[in-house]
Amino acid sequence: MEGRTLLVRLNRYLSLCGLTSRRKAEELILQGKVKVNGLVVKELGWRVDPKKDVVEVEGKEVKQPTYRYIILYKPCCYLTALGKSKDGKRTIEELIKDIPERVYPAGRLDYNAEGLLLLTNDGELANRIMHPRHKLKKTYLVWVYGIVGKETLNRMKKGVRLEDGFTKPDSVRLLKHQENKSLIEVVFHEGRKHIVKRFLSHFGHRVIKLKRVAIGPIKLGDLKPGQWRDLNEHELKRLRKALDMEPVKEV
Ligand code: URA
Repeated sequence: MEGRTLLVRLNRYLSLCGLTSRRKAEELILQGKVKVNGLVVKELGWRVDPKKDVVEVEGKEVKQPTYRYIILYKPCCYLTALGKSKDGKRTIEELIKDIPERVYPAGRLDYNAEGLLLLTNDGELANRIMHPRHKLKKTYLVWVYGIVGKETLNRMKKGVRLEDGFTKPDSVRLLKHQENKSLIEVVFHEGRKHIVKRFLSHFGHRVIKLKRVAIGPIKLGDLKPGQWRDLNEHELKRLRKALDMEPVKEV
């Protein structure tokens, strides 16, 4: 990212800054309302260096947002929501108070589930994480009631029809069992509501504890419940690659 200069078409820059659509930005440019480094630019193909050029629209400077990519360990008994909840339940907003950018969760975890949540103000990346088309795998460690036998595991691997359609995990394996409980790892690339719980209940195994430990190449690692950190450059590159995106964001 550092040391790489990417020139961006002026109308694209204005839309990436969240000002307006590319087409409306073209109109603003043609109307002479856009200045680059103090001079009116009416040329639609004009390119700017987002790191150096000063762009103004109707006298107001337009700056690229600072993109944040946050990994949060959502503890159990927090809602994946911003703001206050109506029924007094705690929300993840309490945990990310110190982040000045308006980041949003890319996907959700149930109130009583825990683990990895990604939050960002990069809408394109968030959409790709959530859309099943990009097949980003989410890995869950799940304690369930009962001993999950070989035959059940084999049936799980083939997928099932739930009330809202067919689903099939990318993988499922038994890690251990003790007393009358089993620990399984299950991977899904889709995010339908309560998908893991509904899938496992279908086989008669009610979930005791559900923890998401990875989203694509991003791992929860040794983060503790309630803690967050920014993704590092290497993680972001790997995530973008997994989502078929350019290695670096173009502003
Ligand atoms: N599946 C569920 O059932 N719950 C979650 O929170 C995530 C996936």
